[in-house]
Amino acid sequence: MKGKSILLGISGGIAAYKAAALCSKLTQAGADVHVVMTKSAIKMVGPATFQALSHHAVRVDTFAEAEPGVIAHIDSADRADLVVIAPATANILAKMAHGIADDMLSTVLLAATAPIFVAPTMNVHMYEHPATQENLEKLRKRGVLFLEPGVGPLACGYVGKGRMAEPEQIFATIETFFAQETAAEAADKPLSGRKVLVTAGGTVERLDPVRYFTNDSSGKMGFAAAVAARDLGAEVTLVAGRVSEPLPQGIDIIHVSSALEMYEAVLERYAHTDVVVKAAAVADYRPVDTFPQKMKKTENMLQVTLIKNPDILEELGKRKNGQFLVGFAAETEHLHEYAMDKLQRKNCDLIVVNDVSRADSGFGTDTNVITIFDQAGVVVELPLLSKYDAATSLMELVAKRLGRLGDV
Ligand code: CTP
Repeated sequence: MKGKSILLGISGGIAAYKAAALCSKLTQAGADVHVVMTKSAIKMVGPATFQALSHHAVRVDTFAEAEPGVIAHIDSADRADLVVIAPATANILAKMAHGIADDMLSTVLLAATAPIFVAPTMNVHMYEHPATQENLEKLRKRGVLFLEPGVGPLACGYVGKGRMAEPEQIFATIETFFAQETAAEAADKPLSGRKVLVTAGGTVERLDPVRYFTNDSSGKMGFAAAVAARDLGAEVTLVAGRVSEPLPQGIDIIHVSSALEMYEAVLERYAHTDVVVKAAAVADYRPVDTFPQKMKKTENMLQVTLIKNPDILEELGKRKNGQFLVGFAAETEHLHEYAMDKLQRKNCDLIVVNDVSRADSGFGTDTNVITIFDQAGVVVELPLLSKYDAATSLMELVAKRLGRLGDV
């Protein structure tokens, strides 16, 4: 629901008061609700109620253009991801069926291209009238979705079919609609159904409670890879070390500090992962001795002995069981030679190399110039790109190699 634009059309049924509860629920769920009311609707409930609940001006009059540069009915129609007419009277349904546009709401409905839900409400005889039934049939054939009226006591004193669906029920239907739409969109994407694990940032190798060894990695490239994979439909887990960039939203993040912690976090998830992107700058060494208290200054010279950290990527390469491995190499010279050596030593499927001696590439920059290698050599040399665009090209290549986008 978050970020979805919903046009809530209210026509002149007594159930207009129930639309206030619906409007409130939709707004609270994060939807951007724009309300259009008919002249009859504003006799039932004042527009001020909907203005307060939706945080937007309510549109009633086709000719009341608040902004000279904007044609209100087209603007309202265009911005909607979904149109909901609740309550929908026999009159508005008839206008919709026949393409009549003689007020703001009916005009918006004629201009709208988004899916439309209607929640009919009317007297039982009006509902059963052949004219209404024909209109409903016409609209159904045209793809309009119905929130069927319930059976019960009606405001006119009759008991029968004609009560508007309850706001909770309408809300649940809208929620399901968006969930299905999102699932359908995701299923179409090249990495849908794939579990991608990305590591990002540098590791922190502690010496004492206030001192540590680390490196200049900002986490930007790893974040870009995680976001690009997510945008291509993957289920992404991000294992983040020390980073200096804001964390990406909407991604499952596991925070680690040292190389050993990163090793544990990655290995633990490896069996259930399809793709690993090792963008993290893992410290090669850590201090042998770590001190629980702050070290005191004594001699002129201080020697710190470092011990090799496990190579996470190399370990993943050894334990590979169908996973697709992408390594990273930040180099200042002999790019081709070092890349191929790392690719083979660590049993990677691809390795991404960037020349960190360039000012526009590498740690902390927003752009990158990368070359991607596979076991046969250079696959692609990408030009100077934003890290997101470079990461998208990389993840598209991964998707191709996994057989989703044809052969490469
Ligand atoms: N890497 C890793 N674990 C380590 C060291 C590196 O998983 N202990 C991964 C990095 O995340 C990267 C790739 O290996 O994807 C290459 O990292 P890099 O530091 O360039 O390679 P090294 O093998 O450490 O080689 P060198 O430092 O000699 O260049």
